[in-house]
Amino acid sequence: MTNIDYRRRQFLQYAALSTLATTLPGFALAENRELNQTPNKLFKADVEIALTAQTTDVSILPGAHTHVFKYHGKLLKGPQTALKELPGYLGPILNFEQGQKVRIYFYNQLPEPCVTHWHGMHVPQVMDGHPMYAIYLGEQYVYEFEVKNPAGTNWYHSHAHELTATQVYQGLAGLITISDEAERKLDLPSGEFDIPLIIQDRSFTNGNQLRYMLNRHQRMRGFLGDTILVNGQENSTIPVKTRAYRLRILNGSNSRIYKLGWNDGTPMTAIGTDGGLLEKPETLPYIMLAPAERVELWVDFSGRKPGSDLMLQSLAYQGSAAHMGGGMGGGMRQGMGRMDGAPVQNEVISIAKFHIAEQISDSPKLPTELVPMRRLNSQDISNPEKTIPIAIGMRHMAFQLNGRTFDMQGHTELEKIPVNSVQKIRIFHDNHGMGGGMRGGRGGMGMMMAMPHPIHLHGQQFQILSRKQNNLSGAYETVRDGFINNGWKDTVLVMPGEEIEIIKPFKDYTGLFLYHCHNLEHEDMGMMRNFFVS
Ligand code: C2O
Ligand code: CU
Repeated sequence: MTNIDYRRRQFLQYAALSTLATTLPGFALAENRELNQTPNKLFKADVEIALTAQTTDVSILPGAHTHVFKYHGKLLKGPQTALKELPGYLGPILNFEQGQKVRIYFYNQLPEPCVTHWHGMHVPQVMDGHPMYAIYLGEQYVYEFEVKNPAGTNWYHSHAHELTATQVYQGLAGLITISDEAERKLDLPSGEFDIPLIIQDRSFTNGNQLRYMLNRHQRMRGFLGDTILVNGQENSTIPVKTRAYRLRILNGSNSRIYKLGWNDGTPMTAIGTDGGLLEKPETLPYIMLAPAERVELWVDFSGRKPGSDLMLQSLAYQGSAAHMGGGMGGGMRQGMGRMDGAPVQNEVISIAKFHIAEQISDSPKLPTELVPMRRLNSQDISNPEKTIPIAIGMRHMAFQLNGRTFDMQGHTELEKIPVNSVQKIRIFHDNHGMGGGMRGGRGGMGMMMAMPHPIHLHGQQFQILSRKQNNLSGAYETVRDGFINNGWKDTVLVMPGEEIEIIKPFKDYTGLFLYHCHNLEHEDMGMMRNFFVS
């Protein structure tokens, strides 16, 4: 057995301890797959990329290299800027333009099934990375799509059945930027002044190998690591000049929610969210960023002293399961919150240090207006009588959506959506679906129900119509000013007790489009369903 095999086995053993399913995940639907193995000759690609999911060893921590999964990219056609490799385990940053036609030859060189989802992108069903299109070792899948999204920050990651959490954890993720005409007119900070920050928490063995060991309770809560990585590196220090920057922040963690803030109390200025640029900049004291959410910040270091530092932190907050356990005896908090010393959701954590390295005199000014956005309202809703529910519930120690867990091609009557319609969707905690003995919130189940869930919908971006908090508590006060409700979104954090109404277009494409919790442990446990658009 080679060293690599050994480490791989070791990882799997850790993973297996936490797997509720008795079958080997991902292999259940081996047959009846439809693959897209050959390029479409009629599709004239502007950009062509070969993207291979493979095992490799990279440097993450000082010392021994870490065995990871990594997307290896190669530009076959198109502008050199379309692909930018990162050190570490993340896939290359893909830089697209609105209107470009993109072809990606995806190769799976992993010993397990894999599929790639272009998170945030509006693409046809067969290009969307639904787990039914997973490919096996040695196979290829050709993705072809036109970039319809406006300028913004999206990402891609594996989405294999019951393997998303472990595959993303081991490195299968990367950033996508899109630019367009409207953005270019704004003359936002670009080049070295446009910085991606992919935030992830990981844990390592003494030998620098990724560790992912979850007991049943930890799996219900989701993975929390003890080491923060930024762009796949530890202890991130970013040298900056005294001028304005654009920071593209992606929470690429499996389940950790960050309350982003500056250590000196400077407010945060957001210019973009999941779906692209905002209408105008928005200033908040802090920003809640749940797994899969993106935020683009305008940060101006002008006037700061060379040699000084500004720290991006996750601030303390309440309202996660770990906190909810507080009233239930210390043992629970310990058991639920901490995992081998990893900080719980609500502790202060340092993320990245910005070191003012050089004084310069010129800086661009923050535009007062960014891009126009048409607000969708009740008049746009195709069927005002029918609100589509997304009920968050739980049964048999598994989270559910609308009373069910994931079923590869399954969908119910209420999950059928007419194509080219605009729907109002209500996301809420369904406390009645909890079953006997779980009500009252005193038991372990009650506490688990009180978890925040980042709910993601595939396909087109949506807008947030309203947020309502049903059990106002002190906990909510610690997060309430950190939500950006204007702008296009594809993932929304639903806090305990919260009810959120969104409005979402389902244009252009028919077929199965997923909606799920982007706490990846929850997703893999089945907190995912299909909308059938027809
Ligand atoms: Cu980011 Cu369905 O995923
Ligand atoms: Cu969840």
